[in-house]
Amino acid sequence: TEEIEQITLSSAADVENYRLKFLVSKGVIKGLFEEFKTVSSEEKRVLGKVLNEFKQLAENKYQEGQELFGKSNVTATKRDEVDLTLPGEGFQLGSRHPLSLVRKEIVEIFKKLGFVVAEGPEIEDDWHNFSALNFPPEHPARDMQDTFFIKKQDGNDIALRTHTSSVQVRLMEAGKPPFRAIMPGRVYRNEAISARAHCFFHQVEGLYVDENVSFADLKQTLFHFVQELYGEGTKVRFRPSYFPFTEPSAEMDISCTICKGQGCQLCKGSGWVEILGCGMVDPNVLENCGIDSKKYSGFAFGMGIERITNLKYEIKDLRLFSENDVRFLSQFETEI
Ligand code: PHE
Repeated sequence: TEEIEQITLSSAADVENYRLKFLVSKGVIKGLFEEFKTVSSEEKRVLGKVLNEFKQLAENKYQEGQELFGKSNVTATKRDEVDLTLPGEGFQLGSRHPLSLVRKEIVEIFKKLGFVVAEGPEIEDDWHNFSALNFPPEHPARDMQDTFFIKKQDGNDIALRTHTSSVQVRLMEAGKPPFRAIMPGRVYRNEAISARAHCFFHQVEGLYVDENVSFADLKQTLFHFVQELYGEGTKVRFRPSYFPFTEPSAEMDISCTICKGQGCQLCKGSGWVEILGCGMVDPNVLENCGIDSKKYSGFAFGMGIERITNLKYEIKDLRLFSENDVRFLSQFETEI
């Protein structure tokens, strides 16, 4: 009796342990009743009363426990103690990753211009990442992009893609012009990790192939894109450049997003910052993908999402994007 009185039942688990100890068929009480059968009828008279009281006490305690911590949650707290008018506790939502936000924004702008989204694999063969894009074998242009090779196999190495231009090739091989697509994705380059370089980053490539596509179309499309993304009045300029897969090729600068062209630390006083590479698709690339380069022409462009994001949010260290520091990530908007 004393033992039972000393037990405090303070959780559903306590109640269950209590039941298992005293009340089940191999429990303490059943055991005592078994022993009871063996005593003399003299003793039975005295003990019977004590035993029945003990049993009653044990069962009452179990009842109490059940009422407080029983299986159903409704009985766990007395109904009139619940104030249903109290505000809920709410739960914490994470925020979108800045790269996802910006990728989405880029995709939305081009979707309005009729571009569809295309994707391709991150593990690529030599053909899609290099050869079809007019990188001749052993050509030094391949060194422009420090490649992570997975498997070297004569003439058809397997590697992590170094740019999303590989998706251009896959798209053109698989269909017929016109093509108007943007291709977001992760790319890999064997570079030492620092504030300004990483071994992986994200690109959005764009491709437009049809009859009579000209450099003017390219310029106007990208001009519109920049007005949408960085605001009306953002200036653009094109500088001649070189890519094996475009001819002519250019790099596009925009008026510095921070000083608006006045000259600051970010643009090193020039007032301009580079945001992407572009050009007219080289006829060799079209032919490699089975497209008649006499009938069709096209433009392509490619940009790094990290770079676009850095300019938008004034982020100075690329490593922040992959370190999962909540102090950084929670500054960006939450979107359901
Ligand atoms: N693929 C190029 C790069 O990764 C970018 C680019 C894409 C340039 C399309 C021109 C046309 O640097």
